[in-house]
Amino acid sequence: MKKTFLAIAVIAASATAALSADDPIAQRKALMQANGGAAGLSAGMMKGEIDYSPAAGKAAITALHATAMTFGDFFPEGSDMGADTKASPKIWEDPAAFEAELAKFQSATAAAVQASGRAGPADLDAFKAAVGPVLGTCKSCHESFQIK
Ligand code: HEC
Repeated sequence: MKKTFLAIAVIAASATAALSADDPIAQRKALMQANGGAAGLSAGMMKGEIDYSPAAGKAAITALHATAMTFGDFFPEGSDMGADTKASPKIWEDPAAFEAELAKFQSATAAAVQASGRAGPADLDAFKAAVGPVLGTCKSCHESFQIK
């Protein structure tokens, strides 16, 4: 149980950092770090390394959804140039394709939120069914839009 609370604390801390920073590159990276924390918590529960609880499942899904809904706001013109970004220039060259990846991420997380109900997915199988499609969207966007 301790691990679960730690993971949730990490997600919350990263999300707060994202809101207080004033630099779009730092903000989108902080959001993706929170996203990575939520995905790590999800994977840990799916593998049985962390005890599943509906509350933890809901926390992970809520964090993923929050990233999906806000991440696209942090790619203003010129923010492809930072020394410290792995965002691909293709995001600005082909914004429609990037939007399409974002839309897939958003609809997957929205469906997961819907499946969570008020208390979170009731058991691990319900959680896997809800979050599995969300985790599938990470790779497809990174392949096209994140520089290795
Ligand atoms: C719509 C596209 C998109 C989706 C979907 C997406 N990512 Fe990302 N991700 C990016 C981009 C672009 C970057 C690079 C941001 C930068 O360096 O400015 C990134 C960076 C990251 C990073 C590195 C952050 C850092 O500190 O540099 C992690 C971790 C990450 N993503 C995890 C995930 C996980 C986990 C998922 C799925 C739950 C996911 N991402 C879904 C586009 C996406």
